[in-house]
Amino acid sequence: MTYQTITSETKGAVTLITINRPEALNALSTKVLSDLMEAFSVFGDDDTQHCAVITGSGDKAFAAGADIKEMVDKPAADFFLEDFFSGWNKLTASIRKPWIAAVNGFALGGGCELAMMADFIIASENAKFGQPEIKLGVGPGMGGSQRLTLAVGKAKAMDLCLTGRMMDAEEAERAGLVARIVPHDKLMKEAMKAAETIATMPPMAAMVNKEMVEAAFETTLTQGLLHERRLFQILTATEDKAEGMKAFVEKRAANWKGR
Ligand code: HXC
Repeated sequence: MTYQTITSETKGAVTLITINRPEALNALSTKVLSDLMEAFSVFGDDDTQHCAVITGSGDKAFAAGADIKEMVDKPAADFFLEDFFSGWNKLTASIRKPWIAAVNGFALGGGCELAMMADFIIASENAKFGQPEIKLGVGPGMGGSQRLTLAVGKAKAMDLCLTGRMMDAEEAERAGLVARIVPHDKLMKEAMKAAETIATMPPMAAMVNKEMVEAAFETTLTQGLLHERRLFQILTATEDKAEGMKAFVEKRAANWKGR
């Protein structure tokens, strides 16, 4: 499958998706969204694929935000009538398998928001995160005010949204936005290694673990604990649970069935 604004390639059980508009610092145009929708749909439907990595092409940017040139002359009524940016919610909701953002440079505005949609972020030491939309007379539109606040708390989310400043990888890791920082030239190797590790896990358990953690952002503790227990109990009915526990007891590697 070929795309206009991204590339998508399978490497073993991992799908590597690269936003490919380096001339615009990988700005997220409407076409990027529709290409990503297609690529993630192919990833979701392919039973040989168990984890995805998303990154930006070039050395400078993961994505420098939504495409400002696409928005500059757009009438307000069109933003409303198209429910502009709502497609990103549909994209996120449709991805049931784990995916990692490998942030190689600027992750600003929509770029930061896309990285936060992923299950976790591995950042190059050169990564820079921010929600600078206020400088354009707007605010985050793809989830930044919500996901950033949930990730780093009110103080830093307010600081970033109101001043529009960037934070570097170290600050982002300290704040809990980033899972790991790696040397710039090792970013893809480390992100692919993490994805390959995830891809060796029993696939249903991987999907359920993702769903369990996601529930923490949606619900009360009591409901979340119940949801977790029920999902755990459902997993005990899988062939992979029987195999995983038997393999442990027999001191051998498990042979996953994926069901
Ligand atoms: C369209 C963009 C872009 C963007 C960069 N470019 N960001 N095009 N949309 N978000 C383009 C530039 O126009 C330029 O192309 C080329 O990429 C290189 O960018 P430069 O600015 O020349 O690079 P540099 O001087 O190194 O500065 C890098 C930067 C800066 C600090 C990242 O590009 C920047 O501030 N970008 C915008 C960041 C931003 O505000 N993001 C939030 C977007 S709004 P040309 O051809 O012109 O030379 C958003 C949600 C909005 O995400 C919600 C609204 C409802």
